[in-house]
Amino acid sequence: MYRFFTLFLYRIDPEKAHYLTMWCLMTFLKIPGARALLRIIFQVRGDALHRKVAGMDFANPVGLAAGFDKNGRYLNAMAVLGFSHIEVGTITPRAQPGNPKPRLFRLVKSRALINRMGFNNEGVDVLAGRLSRKRPPGLIVGANIGKNKDTPLEDATNDYLISFRKLYALVDYFTVNVSSPNTPGLRTLQEKEPLTHLLSTLQKSNPDEKPVFLKIAPDLTEQQLDEIIDIVLDTKLAGVIATNTTIGREALSESKASIESIGAGGLSGRPVFKKSIEVVRYLRDRGKGQFAIIGVGGIEDSASAAQHIEAGADLVQVYTGLIYSGPGLVKCILKRMRQKLS
Ligand SMILES: Cc1cc2nc3c(=O)[nH]c(=O)nc-3n(C[C@H](O)[C@H](O)[C@H](O)COP(=O)(O)O)c2cc1C
Repeated sequence: MYRFFTLFLYRIDPEKAHYLTMWCLMTFLKIPGARALLRIIFQVRGDALHRKVAGMDFANPVGLAAGFDKNGRYLNAMAVLGFSHIEVGTITPRAQPGNPKPRLFRLVKSRALINRMGFNNEGVDVLAGRLSRKRPPGLIVGANIGKNKDTPLEDATNDYLISFRKLYALVDYFTVNVSSPNTPGLRTLQEKEPLTHLLSTLQKSNPDEKPVFLKIAPDLTEQQLDEIIDIVLDTKLAGVIATNTTIGREALSESKASIESIGAGGLSGRPVFKKSIEVVRYLRDRGKGQFAIIGVGGIEDSASAAQHIEAGADLVQVYTGLIYSGPGLVKCILKRMRQKLS
């Protein structure tokens, strides 16, 4: 059924397709009984799927990665598909429009996307308003925070701090995003000095020791990863989310000319899988279990999810795989996991 739907969806602009799909789902859920029906279709339960990570109880290991629900509009709708957690954001203190359109591109042959959205979002106050309303029971909600495009890099910490404080009582965990390739200079915050400053400032404003994760790029060297591990341990973070999109253009089936015509942006989906897995494995080997790892990048079926977990991920998240494999992806991953565990 989803494959049939994609015949139509792939003909329209990917960003419009995203909003249209979500509009259809939200409209459908207004029909009495629809929510219960979708729960029966999509949700997989089982004690064996339960995970305790960073002190939080996850009903299962699969979450929705940041960027899909930047403004916290779809928590109720996406929870129906079986996610144990949803990471909203990236959110910035002030609303911003993001980069000019088009800024999201499908690479269907490679089962990938290139995006240069640029943190388009409605701002932290709007998100806080939505998060204070009723939320699906049992759903863990994380907030992925970033800086506004026009905030100078030297003032970045303040941007993160504003969102951290405003959302503190409303979310279960935070993710500090310093790895998006679409905000100029953001990735330099992954360097030792600014990163230590940023994370220790947030931790000083964290009286309840709420779990804080760091989301990193897949393009870091081993030396950079070693530094990050030290910083994560020094600043007592809950863990690392590995990885964001890549600026690389390897492992693509499309022609070089068509890739070049798209221009700058972060690549996600199948081509980022290998890189993400390598980062997860490196963090597991070097980190020796001292912090949690959330694996994200190229998960599109139960086998790729299992590989992330075998590499060392405690939990996994999906984004691009959901676009290509459809709403049954979580169910497919969880059913296989439950089978293996029983
Ligand atoms: C359109 C799009 C927008 C994204 N926006 C964000 C974002 O705002 N913040 C963030 O941390 N990651 C963002 N990501 C990255 C994803 O959360 C994820 O880390 C990455 O896409 C790799 O996973 P995937 O291969 O399953 O998509 C975005 C990805 C896509 C495709």
